[in-house]
Amino acid sequence: MCGIVSYTGKRSARQALIDGLKRIEYRGYDSAGIATHEKDTLQVIRKPGRIEVLAEEVDKVEPEGTLGIAHTRWATHGEVTEANAHPHLSNNGKFALVHNGIIENYVTIKKFLESEGYTFSSETDSEVLVNLISYHYDKEPKNDKNNRFCESIRKSLLHVEGTYGIVVICDDYPNDLVGARKSSPLILGIGKDEKILASDVSAFVKRTQDVVYLRDGEIIHVTEDDFSITTVTQKDVTAVIEKIEWKAEDAELGSFKHFMEKEIFEQPTALENAMRGHFSEDATTAIFGGLNMSAQELRQVDRIIFCACGTAWHACLTAEYLIERYARIPVEVEYASEFRYRNAPLDKNTLVFVVSQSGETLDTLAALRESQRKGYRTLAINNVVGSTIARESDGGIYQHAGPEIGVASTKAFTSQLVIVAMLALYLGRMRDMSLGDGSQFVNALKQLPEQVHQILEKSHYIQEIAQKYAHHEDFLFLGRQILFPIALEGALKLKEISYIHAEGYPAAELKHGPIALISPKCPSVFLTNQESIFNKTLANMQEVKARKGEILAIAAAGRIFPEGLVDDLIIVPPAHAALQPILATIPVQLLSYYIAVERGCDVDKPRNLAKSVTVE
Ligand code: G6P
Repeated sequence: MCGIVSYTGKRSARQALIDGLKRIEYRGYDSAGIATHEKDTLQVIRKPGRIEVLAEEVDKVEPEGTLGIAHTRWATHGEVTEANAHPHLSNNGKFALVHNGIIENYVTIKKFLESEGYTFSSETDSEVLVNLISYHYDKEPKNDKNNRFCESIRKSLLHVEGTYGIVVICDDYPNDLVGARKSSPLILGIGKDEKILASDVSAFVKRTQDVVYLRDGEIIHVTEDDFSITTVTQKDVTAVIEKIEWKAEDAELGSFKHFMEKEIFEQPTALENAMRGHFSEDATTAIFGGLNMSAQELRQVDRIIFCACGTAWHACLTAEYLIERYARIPVEVEYASEFRYRNAPLDKNTLVFVVSQSGETLDTLAALRESQRKGYRTLAINNVVGSTIARESDGGIYQHAGPEIGVASTKAFTSQLVIVAMLALYLGRMRDMSLGDGSQFVNALKQLPEQVHQILEKSHYIQEIAQKYAHHEDFLFLGRQILFPIALEGALKLKEISYIHAEGYPAAELKHGPIALISPKCPSVFLTNQESIFNKTLANMQEVKARKGEILAIAAAGRIFPEGLVDDLIIVPPAHAALQPILATIPVQLLSYYIAVERGCDVDKPRNLAKSVTVE
């Protein structure tokens, strides 16, 4: 979704801004722009479309200023036009602003400003804010230059409802960036003779790994050699400088064609990293000290609620099957966007988990806050150290999958799956799972990266199958029990990156509606279980075949299908029941990836989608 990069330092800002925008391109956007401080004026260059288009224009104009802000916009208020792109200038040209989030009361503020003679050239809520800042600046005492800039922003934010990450520059201050955040990330990168304030560490990880994470309600004033943080309510804040663990190479393509491909192939390592340090010494259970809960407290939990959005929601649905089966604790799964407004009655022994790769998804963050407001212990499963969700939760588990750049989540999803499987083991062993079952579970987990590797080695075969099916416009993904969430994930992956209509269903639901779609034009991808339910799935496959539907099956080695039932078969290694969802995921990811490539789609930047959704 929208991204911010801003720079103050000794060098020209232009290079750092364009380079930073390219590095956050993966978040999804439809226009981009920069503003630099050029000899007492602010120069703005904006373009709809890709950053390359903006970069060409910037190369023509050659701005030289050492202070600048830049933005990638994912349209919310107003179409994708140059006028609606950021940065926005105040009427007098004195201020330029970039904004992530939504100012919910912008109509009221706009009316007020119009009554004061302000005019607007865009349809955005953001242009309203930059003019409100300009309005307050004119009211501030002119002799207090130190405070005037920050104060005008602070006073403006007191009137703002909604969410924001903003960075503002002013032509009276050739070295100063002022930023603020509320429910939208902003991070300061401290480099040598330069500082970068951005919405994502990827924007500057090549330049520095020393960072300060801003918290909600904080305002940061940055110059090339100093910075200070206060709050909107005028309190001083002591900044904590932290080191980020990602390196620039982690977010580079290497020999792969797309980030999605790279990330699919990184899964054996991502799974190892997710498991590292989480086995008990005697290899009979998992351990998760980061939950900040004693065994005694965990034994008292009567119910667990999982909340998430998108792919992470599918990991939660898998958690429901696993935790109920192995730990015998009732689990409910909620879309974070529904949970936050649903006001569900919860028992006092309810534990809430939010799951989010980015740790910044606004609805998931809101679900976390709502749950905490009601007094429930709320834990997080999250991939980004220092993210808002990681910092605000009462404890949790880091995925350590490394940066995920491809918009369609792959390695982050399977690392969530392995974590929820280990959680089921951990909670199960505290209750009634036997030592023998625990040790079998751990052994199976330890073999998992190698098993995933074996499937990846068949990628050429899966590519051939993908080429055969790529022309279809409709797909069904069907799976039962613990593979039902993977059927949903398979359908989501395919529609996200290839724009093919795909639906995921529990296989037995076929006859309650989706069977009407079956024809030679609508193939079905069946994810088959290794247990007794396999035979039930076979019956569902027969129903498809009887209606001339093509069948692509994913099955464990050794499974036998009646002759002529399956048109294509992808074999995965047999595994512990809890880990079958992970092994079934790899072929559906590869299938979607190769189908999208075959159709010439922009795999890493699918249309209309954003990596991290920071609006409601
Ligand atoms: C967006 C992304 C999805 C992701 C979802 C939740 O929709 O495109 O890939 O699953 O957000 O993201 P999160 O960071 O909370 O896991």
